[in-house]
Amino acid sequence: MCGIVGYIGHDNAKELLLKGLEKLEYRGYDSAGIALTNDEGTEVFKEKGRIADLRKVADDNDFDGTLGIGHTRWATHGVPNHENSHPHQSASKRYTLVHNGVIENYEELRAEYLSDVNFLSETDTEIVVQLIEHFANEGLDTETAFTKVVSMLEGSYALGLLDDQDNDTIYVAKNKSPLLIGVGDDFNVIASDALAMLPVTNEYKEIHDHEIVIVKRDSVVIKDQDGNVQDRETYTAEIDAADAEKGVYDHYMLKEIHEQPAVMRRIIQEYQDCEGNLKMDKDIVDDVAAADRIYIIAAGTSYHAGLVGKEFIEKWAGVPTEVHVASEFVYNMPLLSENPLFIYISQSGETADSRAVLVETKKLGHKSLTITNVPGSTLSREADHTLLLHAGPEIAVASTKAYTAQIAVLSILSQIVALEHGREAEVDLLRELAKVTTAIEAIVDDAEKLEDITKEFMDDTRNAFFIGRTIDYNVSLEGALKLKEISYIQAEGFAGGELKHGTIALIEEGTPVVALATQENVNNSIRGNVKEVAARGANTCVISMEGLEKEGDTYVIPQVHELLTPLVSVVATQLIAYYAALHRDLDVDKPRNLAKSVTVE
Ligand code: F6R
Repeated sequence: MCGIVGYIGHDNAKELLLKGLEKLEYRGYDSAGIALTNDEGTEVFKEKGRIADLRKVADDNDFDGTLGIGHTRWATHGVPNHENSHPHQSASKRYTLVHNGVIENYEELRAEYLSDVNFLSETDTEIVVQLIEHFANEGLDTETAFTKVVSMLEGSYALGLLDDQDNDTIYVAKNKSPLLIGVGDDFNVIASDALAMLPVTNEYKEIHDHEIVIVKRDSVVIKDQDGNVQDRETYTAEIDAADAEKGVYDHYMLKEIHEQPAVMRRIIQEYQDCEGNLKMDKDIVDDVAAADRIYIIAAGTSYHAGLVGKEFIEKWAGVPTEVHVASEFVYNMPLLSENPLFIYISQSGETADSRAVLVETKKLGHKSLTITNVPGSTLSREADHTLLLHAGPEIAVASTKAYTAQIAVLSILSQIVALEHGREAEVDLLRELAKVTTAIEAIVDDAEKLEDITKEFMDDTRNAFFIGRTIDYNVSLEGALKLKEISYIQAEGFAGGELKHGTIALIEEGTPVVALATQENVNNSIRGNVKEVAARGANTCVISMEGLEKEGDTYVIPQVHELLTPLVSVVATQLIAYYAALHRDLDVDKPRNLAKSVTVE
């Protein structure tokens, strides 16, 4: 989703901003722009489309500076076009602004203060920059005007503002949307994601909601709403810049699929003590173990990981667990138990839908745990506890290694809570996760075979179905999501037994149906479902597991513990999705309309 970068120092800001925006491309966007300020004033370059298009326009112009802001926009208010792209400028062009998030009261503010001003864009952002100029025209200095306007905004925002009468300041504020200040030697940067400015600095300061930050070349001053200066330590962003490169792979998604065995090993290492036992912060275990019911809140792929997590928590730890789609839960909260604990699962830790639930459950006084890949992310900062995925940066929009990492961490949490409840460990989890690691390795080594399977089943189709029963049903949902989001094949996941209650009407000659068959207790029934669709002309692709396989199965995964099969079978479906998109010549890492970090509700 939208991304912000900014630089104030002594080097060429144009190049640094463009490079920073390139690093944010993975978040998803449909237009981009930069603004540079020097002694002559401020110049804006913006383009619909890719950063490469923006680069052409910016490079064709000699205007340069050592101060600037940049933005990638994922359209919400107004179509992706030149006018709606950021940065936006005030009527006189004195002020220039980039904004992430949604200003909910922009129409009211416009009606009250600026009904006579001609707006150039359809965005909710333009009101902010026009309003700052409005108050500056009434005599306020820029910092006071900025602070006043920020206090009037409702909704979510991360803001970076330039004043062309002052080429030594970027004004910054945030609420709900992520924004960091990167500090350097005689320069400072702003970024919605540390990755963007990692080549420049790995030292960052967090800013809190409603704070105002005055960023100059040699200082960063953070103030609260009342103008009191806040002390803030810097922290080092523990990201290896090389992790954010494609390396030998053609796409980040392929790289991230291949990284899954290494991620499993890292998780095993991070959650194990020197005696080889599972380990976890005692406060987390106590809070989870004290809950009478667990509510898992997540979106998309993370929601699918939550569905698998529920199986461990209920079966191993014996705690009733509900899994909810965040965007629904916030408007339709079910009757809660007396002592609930909320688990927020989010790769990015920034998903606005999940954060909206966290805000509500905090108000109700309920304990919360975030499971995320991004330390210091909003959901991590705001929850009582955090468990990290240790998956390394996930750049491809389609989530792969985060899904398997989320499931692995949930399995460890469940086992530790089970022990805390005095239950016997049902499995030697570390040993089983080691087996999973080897099994995933075998599948990624088999990529060519999965590419052939993709050719046979997916290359000539407009739609596909994934079916499974019990835990395989959860994987079928994820398999279908992965396929549709990057190949644009209309794909749906169904419980094997549910198909005949309506959806089977869609099966015609050649319709691909991928069936997951990794569970012994439903092996015969899922195979019955496969026969039902095959009898109606479906092209059936059966992914089964060693020990349960039958003659004619399309792909057989190595044997692992029955509840851990999603960690392995999903990898076959990830590769099928990858090759389906590749064979259609699509942008695998940046599928249309999607954003990596969904920071609007
Ligand atoms: C799909 C995908 C999305 C995300 C969802 C939640 O591949 O990546 O469905 O899972 O947008 O994002 P996070 O996990 O960052 O909260």
